Amino acid sequence: MIRLLTFVSILVTFNFAQAASNNIQLKPVLIDLNNKASLQRGAKIYVNNCLGCHTLKYQRYVKFIDHLSLTKEEIEKNLIFTTNKDGEQTKIGSLILNSVNTDTAIEAFGVVPPDLTLIARSRGSEWLYTFLTSFYEDDSRPLGVNNTLYPNVGMPHVLSWMEGLKKAQLSDKGQIIYAYKGSMTAEEYDSTIVDLVNFLVYVSEPAQLDRYRIGFWVIIFLSLFSFVAYLLKNEYWKDVK
Ligand code: HEC
Repeated sequence: MIRLLTFVSILVTFNFAQAASNNIQLKPVLIDLNNKASLQRGAKIYVNNCLGCHTLKYQRYVKFIDHLSLTKEEIEKNLIFTTNKDGEQTKIGSLILNSVNTDTAIEAFGVVPPDLTLIARSRGSEWLYTFLTSFYEDDSRPLGVNNTLYPNVGMPHVLSWMEGLKKAQLSDKGQIIYAYKGSMTAEEYDSTIVDLVNFLVYVSEPAQLDRYRIGFWVIIFLSLFSFVAYLLKNEYWKDVK
């Protein structure tokens, strides 16, 4: 028991230490897994901008039929852009993989881009949202960008074509200054990232969708059952009083 307590206290201390090492305030984000349109948009952003480097190797495309309410044809047309060795389009039953070459990735970024299937569970949605909105210009870095939440990150700012590239310093009035502008306004970019994070939260635990659906009926059942149990109790006790 004492050993277990020591272990737990070490874990807790470690977590605090980790949190304290980075004083950035995480930005809150509203996750809504019932918003299928948002999940669909998030999936599209992911396959177009992230899959090139980050696999989702514990997820299959075919799951999007049930989970994102998409048809097989929509998935094949809008979400599958990879091919197999013979150049044919990846099958819908396949895992969501890419063809990143480990050596080339290490040469380019210093690390292999990690798989992101479980990233929302290990980092949390607020961390992801803050990370993806915290890139800024930094000429001292090899890729010309840095990240306030993840200093010296090895990832390029792949969504700068949408967001533009922020400068490290704010203007005198506290406004963001852009080194160059992207295709979206700041609000549009934020809502795009909410969709993307929403999608990553879903991918990290698709069973959440089932839990919500089943949970609803369980609550209804319990309410009805309690009512019936109450009537039954009255029936049993009416002669005792
Ligand atoms: C050109 C390749 C490339 C693309 C495209 C890319 N990333 Fe990355 N990403 C990386 C690399 C490399 C790292 C590792 C950085 C490090 O550890 O310093 C990384 C790290 C990350 C991390 C941090 C993982 C951790 O260590 O906790 C997240 C989250 C992430 N990427 C999300 C995304 C998302 C979302 C997209 C799509 C919008 C994306 N990435 C597109 C290369 C890429």
